[in-house]
Amino acid sequence: MNCCTILIFLIITLVTGVVFLWLYLYLNHFRIKYFDLRMLFPGKRKPAEVGSYYDTWHERYEEVYGSTIQSYRSENIALLHEYIMQSAGIKDGIKILDAGCGVCGPAIYFAGKRDINIDAITVSQKQADVAAENIIKAGLEHKISVRHADFHQVDKLFPENSFDLILFLESYGHAYNHEKLIKAATKVLKKGGHIYIKDYFKKDLPGSLLQRQLIRMGIKNMNNVYRYNTPDLYHTIYILRQLNFELKWLRIPDIPEWDGNKVIQKFHEKNNIAFYNGKDELYDQNNGRFIVDPYEMLFYKR
Ligand SMILES: C[S@@+](CC[C@H](N)C(=O)[O-])C[C@H]1O[C@@H](n2cnc3c(N)ncnc32)[C@H](O)[C@@H]1O
Repeated sequence: MNCCTILIFLIITLVTGVVFLWLYLYLNHFRIKYFDLRMLFPGKRKPAEVGSYYDTWHERYEEVYGSTIQSYRSENIALLHEYIMQSAGIKDGIKILDAGCGVCGPAIYFAGKRDINIDAITVSQKQADVAAENIIKAGLEHKISVRHADFHQVDKLFPENSFDLILFLESYGHAYNHEKLIKAATKVLKKGGHIYIKDYFKKDLPGSLLQRQLIRMGIKNMNNVYRYNTPDLYHTIYILRQLNFELKWLRIPDIPEWDGNKVIQKFHEKNNIAFYNGKDELYDQNNGRFIVDPYEMLFYKR
C-alpha cells in the first residue's frame, strides 16, 4: 500500500465519519410537524420504576417541597393552589380525578375550599399511605379518596363518564405512553368535561445543532434523574385533538409570586443533582428559562 492509497483511505474514513455524525444529530431533531421519530421509541421509565422512585425519595421531597410536589410554584403555596383552582375551573359540585396526586397537598387544599369530590391516585404506595393520613388529619375523608394505582389504567379503575375534570399537576410527564394515558382518561371523563395539564415540556429552540443537542442531553439527564419522560407539546395537543378535544387555551403559568426556581435549586443542592455535571449554570440561561418549558393548558371534551 503506498502513501497515496493510505491518504485516500483516511479521507474516505473521515468524510464517512462526518456524514454519519451529521446524520445522527440531524435525525435526532428530525420533525415533520406532528411526527417525531422519537415517538416510535416511547420513554423507558415505567410506572413501577416511577413508583419505587417516589417511595424511596418521599422524605427528601417532603423536606424541601412540603406536601405539594410542584417545581413551578409560588413562594406562598396557597397562591399556587388558588391559581390552579381558577385555571382548571374547580367549582362547587364537580367530580375530579387527580391523576398523579403526590401526598394530596393540592387535593386537600381544593377540597377545603370547594364542595367537590376528588378521586386521587398515585403510583407510589408510600405516597398513597401518607396521603391517606393527610386526608384524615384534614378531616376530608368524605370528599377525597386516594389509592395506589397506575394512571394509564384509569379506564379499568373507574366507570365510564365518571369525572367532570381530570388534573395532571406535574404528573403527565411521568407517563411512559402519553397517548395510552389520554385515551384511558378520555373514557372516564364526561362529555363536556375538561382535562387540565400543568407540566414541563421539551424546549424547542431554533438554535444550532450543537445547542439543540445540549438541550437534548440535559433533558435526557433530567429524565433519568426524575424518572420522567418529558413530553412534546405539539404531540400532546395532537393526541388530544385526535380524541376530539378542543384546546381552550395554552400558556406559560402566570403564577403569582413565582419562586424563581428556588425550591428546585434547593432540592438539587441537597441531593447533589446536576443535569450537566455541575455546569448547569452554562446551559440554564436560554432566554432566562430552563432546558424545558413550563406550560399549562385546558382541553374540553366535545
Ligand atoms: C411531581 S409529583 C406531583 C404530585 C402532585 N400532583 C402535586 O402537585 O403535589 C408526580 C406525581 O405523579 C405520580 N405518578 C407518576 N406516574 C404515575 C402513574 N403511572 N400513575 C399514577 N401516578 C403517577 C407520582 O406518583 C407523583 O405522585
